[in-house]
Amino acid sequence: MKISVYHTPESTPDHDIPDCAIVIDVLRATTTINTALNNGAKSVKAFSDVDLLLAESNLLPRESRLTLGERGGKKVDSCDLGNSPLDCSSETVANKQLFISTTNGTRALQRVADAPILITGAIINYSAVVNYLQQKQPETVWLLGSGWEGGYSLEDTVCAGAIASGLVDLSNVETIGNDEVVSSISLYHQWKDNLLGLFRLSSHGQRLLKLNLDDDLKYCSEPNIISNFGIQTEKGVLTLYRQ
Ligand code: MLT
Repeated sequence: MKISVYHTPESTPDHDIPDCAIVIDVLRATTTINTALNNGAKSVKAFSDVDLLLAESNLLPRESRLTLGERGGKKVDSCDLGNSPLDCSSETVANKQLFISTTNGTRALQRVADAPILITGAIINYSAVVNYLQQKQPETVWLLGSGWEGGYSLEDTVCAGAIASGLVDLSNVETIGNDEVVSSISLYHQWKDNLLGLFRLSSHGQRLLKLNLDDDLKYCSEPNIISNFGIQTEKGVLTLYRQ
């Protein structure tokens, strides 16, 4: 298994696709997606365009669908919810089809939509992702951060480091796909006991704090509070992976 870390979709090699892609948007898209699926959502479908999202979701009966829209950390007015994992309780999402569009996370999902295996990773479930990869042993694995409008995000790369540190043998260069793997592991080891502190330092964390969303940072920084993850079962559609 050769692991590569990419901080943003824009930094991935053109015309290449891995055997397995782990999409990471810790603040907050993949935390939200994993939470919603864990709380009983039937599926989560990602859209880069809100109008297309609304057109498709409107084809379903009102009581069986939910739309989630975020831009710049704020809720999109035409959607039912923003992108807070704290809004995705079982009472709200159970047995519903969710439709989501966010600033960066949905773009990262689309970048690797053709990968044979696509999984959503976050701090709240990274051990489940590591266990899956250890079992399946895909030849090439991308740990893909979503970043922010093409820029680096501390929170996504520290999560990539958490996953990589469970998989990569630093004495065996065959497992190391690029230098970013090593630096992400170092970032993780530096901050693994104070992830909330790192999130509060991060540029997107600061953006969310200005929106009074520290409770989101707290939740998103809690390691392994769920033991499953989302997996793409048709292009753009994530469902709960059943072991
Ligand atoms: C993103 O897509 O960049 C994030 O999910 C934004 C957010 O939810 O704050």
